[in-house]
Amino acid sequence: MKSDKRSNTIFAVGGGKGGVGKSIFSVALGTLLADAGHSVILADLDLGAANIHACLGILKKTATIADFIQKKAASLEDILIDTSRSNLKLISGADFMPGMANPAYWMKLKIMRHIRSLPADIVILDLGAGVHFNTLDFFGVADRGIVVTSPEPGAVMNAYGFIKGALFRKLQSIFRKHSEINSLVESESIKSEGENRLTLEQFAEEVKRIDPELYPLINEVEQSFNPALVVNRVPAGQSHILVKNLIALCTDKLGIKMEHIGNLPDMREISDYLLNITGFIDAKAGKLYRSSVKSIINRLNVPVTKERPGTKPDTEFSDEDVERIIKVMEQFDDSIFSGTNREAWKLRMYFNPSDVVDFLISRGISHKTLGTE
Ligand SMILES: Nc1ncnc2c1ncn2[C@@H]1O[C@H](COP(=O)(O)OP(=O)(O)OP(=O)(O)O)[C@@H](O)[C@H]1O
Ligand SMILES: [Mg+2]
Repeated sequence: MKSDKRSNTIFAVGGGKGGVGKSIFSVALGTLLADAGHSVILADLDLGAANIHACLGILKKTATIADFIQKKAASLEDILIDTSRSNLKLISGADFMPGMANPAYWMKLKIMRHIRSLPADIVILDLGAGVHFNTLDFFGVADRGIVVTSPEPGAVMNAYGFIKGALFRKLQSIFRKHSEINSLVESESIKSEGENRLTLEQFAEEVKRIDPELYPLINEVEQSFNPALVVNRVPAGQSHILVKNLIALCTDKLGIKMEHIGNLPDMREISDYLLNITGFIDAKAGKLYRSSVKSIINRLNVPVTKERPGTKPDTEFSDEDVERIIKVMEQFDDSIFSGTNREAWKLRMYFNPSDVVDFLISRGISHKTLGTE
């Protein structure tokens, strides 16, 4: 049983291009982490094109994240589904329905808050294809993002676009209230690859020059934005030149560290197991894939537990309270963040609304104290 102070480790699996093997890898990763004794929850966040349930052979109608988004379920914990594997649970994704693929901003924050307090050691977010803001946001909040690509030129370029998109989305969300830095982020983000773009280090120097007080923020991005790269369907013993180019591009053009944590073999046998990926992992046919995922797990340095002092999953705030607070914070006029009210502005720069809510909760401030009842 988790203690109050324990919070889970979140991995997000994304990659830009569709059909490169993200979902199958997510299921294999979850299965082998569960086998190793971790309690694992797989969350299908491919909103509108869910398929993890199918990979696990769960074909009957179950609760899905749509029930949570439509407020039929009060918490994500209520929609957890058991799988055939012990230690492995699923949050099933939603079938396509209008609006589902694009939830409101506060709903995204609500989903993330609930994900952070799920009762598991590890939560794996399987993301959809493309560079939609939702996908980039979910990727950005994970403790570690894993980019999956195949070694084809199109997929590798998509992976680069995805990493670039996730980095700029992160910078935009941090600096969106600071007009000078925000316009710098905007102008850098629309530059083509041929143009000279500031690397993260150079951007940090610019931030330092514009406002030295904000340097810790950009420094944190420099330290924490280090996606892991997994290359799928690689012929045995081959290390592909395009992958080296991708890593070099990330270092030279973006200035970020990306760690290549392993390859997965191309296995046509997978097609016999598309409705039973856990069975594939157990089968003789899946041996090579299984050992590759295991060595990727070793490179991920998965912590058994993680302490986050001050963060308590059980909250005196109801989701409605949180929703209200977030909406109030979002309504703040820009003037409140600048000029005379510098401290309030800094508060907004350093904390996003859900962090503020978590902070209030950690200080034992209840909704009664805030008069929100
Ligand atoms: N290692 C592999 N060897 C052979 N085929 C594979 C491998 N990994 C994935 N595939 C094939 O690619 C297909 C797509 O895989 P998967 O659904 O995991 O991709 P995805 O990236 O999640 O796609 P989407 O972007 O649509 O969510 C699978 O149905 C399978 O046929
Ligand atoms: Mg998928």
